[in-house]
Amino acid sequence: MRNLVLVRHPLLACELTVLRRRGTPPAGFRAALRRASLLLACEVSRALPLRRSRVRTPLAPAPGWTLASPVVLVPVLRAGLGMTDAFLELMPEARVGHLGIYRDEETLDPVEYYSSHPRELRRASVLLLDPMLATGGSACAALAALESRGARDLRLVTLLAAPQGVRAVAREHPDVPVFTAALDRTLNSRGYIVPGLGDAGDRQFGTG
Ligand code: PRP
Ligand code: URA
Repeated sequence: MRNLVLVRHPLLACELTVLRRRGTPPAGFRAALRRASLLLACEVSRALPLRRSRVRTPLAPAPGWTLASPVVLVPVLRAGLGMTDAFLELMPEARVGHLGIYRDEETLDPVEYYSSHPRELRRASVLLLDPMLATGGSACAALAALESRGARDLRLVTLLAAPQGVRAVAREHPDVPVFTAALDRTLNSRGYIVPGLGDAGDRQFGTG
């Protein structure tokens, strides 16, 4: 799976364990997802293009750097919301688009119900945020929606991925790298990642 970037970090492995544990309450789940997202944000931002600049220290001029292109974060509602603040913490200048997509429970097909994006999409580094990549239907629909609005430089950031989802993204969006903290075994008959962590939206917001 050449499109997959498996992010390995001891702290991320510990946060993922908290997130997987069935007894973790919503408050603990949200806090662990935020910390895990900080570590993912460090890794996915490694490849952002830089532009040289100059800075004056109290003593002398020094070389400096700024990001060469704007960053746009696009969380997929609902579960991607839990990743957004951590990314904004590290990239405070980033603009934020929103995509509302849910899976039809019977067909598992993605249904888009909301979309709002900043104008920079075309020249921005776009980071699509969704903790779960299961069948890949939602991610592929989200990527297609962003591409149709002009986005060209896209990365997908997830916490957990199933092989089926990674393959679907590779097939439909071969240029989009998928960053994830873990590649799990498979999907069950209802399209849930196994072993996974359950429903990421329900676990964050205490629904379900
Ligand atoms: C979850 C998750 C992804 C999608 C992944 O959202 O946040 O968007 O499922 O599944 P897929 O790869 O098979 O498409 P969900 O449909 O539960 O929406 P919700 O967060 O609004 O409940
Ligand atoms: N969506 C989730 O929240 N969890 C899964 O395991 C699959 C899709």
